[in-house]
Amino acid sequence: MAERDCRIAVLISGSGSNLQAILDGCASGAIPARVALVVSNRDDAAGLARARRAGVPATVVNHRRYPDRQSFDAALQAAIEAGGADLVVLAGFMRILGSGFVRHYQGRLLNIHPSLLPKYRGLDTHQRALAAGDVEAGATVHFVTDELDGGAPVLQASVSINEGDDAAALAARVLAREHIIYPLAVRWFAEGRLRLRDGRAWLDDTPLPLCGYRYEKDAAT
Ligand code: GRF
Repeated sequence: MAERDCRIAVLISGSGSNLQAILDGCASGAIPARVALVVSNRDDAAGLARARRAGVPATVVNHRRYPDRQSFDAALQAAIEAGGADLVVLAGFMRILGSGFVRHYQGRLLNIHPSLLPKYRGLDTHQRALAAGDVEAGATVHFVTDELDGGAPVLQASVSINEGDDAAALAARVLAREHIIYPLAVRWFAEGRLRLRDGRAWLDDTPLPLCGYRYEKDAAT
């Protein structure tokens, strides 16, 4: 980002631990950006308190108060535009966004999904990985497109599935990895190194692997 700091809007629905990891990254200087705004679609999202503690404006756009997705998306977009965001980060945001919204933010809209995409799009990812007898699980940061959890992957981190794991144990282990890879992807974007080009994520002058950069396998840059 050239003339001024990258400004980030973070959209949440719940605990906001990924939001916290990004706030911490900005505060420590690891991410050359600042969280300009946090928006929740739920009044009771615990992450709202994290934003307020960090001195970041936090607002609620509750989907229940809008008659349809289009008007909800429009209200969300208005809130984001008021904060002047360069990057929109979905961090546990549990609403599907319409194609107009997604197109508007194309190339500057990131999500984190708790599976090794393309496996297990949608919900209950950890339960599904356990039921399938997988030996590993993980999380993926990806650009958002119209297709649910289908946009270009940026970064993946995996954990092994251990004997006796239940979905909660697995989710906790994966979440700890999310807190590493999401701030890293945001850092790349804020440094102007991460782009979406022709449906593919690029880092510097190189297209990233189709499943994203594998955090453990390759040394982090
Ligand atoms: C994370 O597991 C994320 O992958 C998923 O929702 C969870 C959000 O956790 N989309 P938090 O609100 O960031 O703590």
